[in-house]
Amino acid sequence: MLIVDQVSKVYRLKKRVGLLRSEWQDVPAVNKLSFQIEPGKIVGLLGINGAGKTTTIKMCSTLLEPSGGSISVNGLDVVKQDRQVKSLVNMIAGGERMLYWRLTGRENLVYFGHLYGLSSSLLAERIPQLLKEVGIEEAADTPVERYSKGMKQRLQIARGLINDPKYIFLDEPTLGLDVAIAKHLRKYVKELVQAKGKAVLLTSHYIQEVEELCDDIYVIDKGRLIAHGTPERLTKSLFKESTLRVTLPQISESLAEGLRELMQSHVFSWEVQEAAEEGCELIIRSEADVTSPILALISSNKLPVLKLTSEHPNLEDAIVYLAEGRSA
Ligand SMILES: Nc1ncnc2c1ncn2[C@@H]1O[C@H](COP(=O)(O)OP(=O)(O)OP(=O)(O)O)[C@@H](O)[C@H]1O
Ligand SMILES: [Mg+2]
Repeated sequence: MLIVDQVSKVYRLKKRVGLLRSEWQDVPAVNKLSFQIEPGKIVGLLGINGAGKTTTIKMCSTLLEPSGGSISVNGLDVVKQDRQVKSLVNMIAGGERMLYWRLTGRENLVYFGHLYGLSSSLLAERIPQLLKEVGIEEAADTPVERYSKGMKQRLQIARGLINDPKYIFLDEPTLGLDVAIAKHLRKYVKELVQAKGKAVLLTSHYIQEVEELCDDIYVIDKGRLIAHGTPERLTKSLFKESTLRVTLPQISESLAEGLRELMQSHVFSWEVQEAAEEGCELIIRSEADVTSPILALISSNKLPVLKLTSEHPNLEDAIVYLAEGRSA
């Protein structure tokens, strides 16, 4: 279990004041944040730019020391027992940093493996296996500067798995990848979690990716937790209503009467809007699905349905809603 307990991070920056003077400025990035990750689960950390996601991941992976609070990984403290924690965690970031371009893929992995203190014999066994799993074995002995972006990202993943971490922190892992490679990566992450019981903390600006992968989501803003739940619960707790829009040639008096009667047995609200060329749009808002009784009523009134759409709020709506300063 990884337990983040009331963790804060304040960056201290030197700021120029006038020509010769400078003074320290505190930038709070994470503010009393708490969450947990269990093995075999994928947890999403969401928030707009600057929310504090990367800072949190860096603290969990021992790259940055918290200013307050504590983080423990399988009972080990990330600050006091950082060496032991390092063997349990690793971070994979999107983009092309953290690789040596002159070295081949294999040489990069040997280099990073040695940084983790892994023996040459262990690496001789693990590296070919990893190169195969991420699908770059054929380019293993090519310098990284000749790799495509997708190949570099695959190598980043192999690098992030070199110490066989129990906890993997993925910071925008599919950033800039094409659709096919991103899909492959998502499948691979799922396999790591399901087959090998790894725990994953994922940040991503691609909401569909988060929705597809995450069991649990924490939404942060200005370093503070503002919402927590499964993707489904998070959306439902914020938006209870769905909207059904039906375009009809007209709303007859008998249809309006029928709608009023239907409201005695079903809970919904309705309004009518003029649609540009095609007649009227009947807009039904409700918590329960009332599509069938509404369509039955329209059909009994012998009105043709010109267009029908049903809108259910999704996780993306929820995140935008939260980012605009409303709370769950
Ligand atoms: N090295 C640093 N020095 C000073 N301030 C920093 C540093 N790194 C991040 N910050 C500040 O801390 C805050 C959180 O940044 P962080 O990179 O953790 O956000 P993020 O959620 O990962 O954003 P993004 O979605 O853009 O990646 C921001 O206000 C940022 O400007
Ligand atoms: Mg970031």
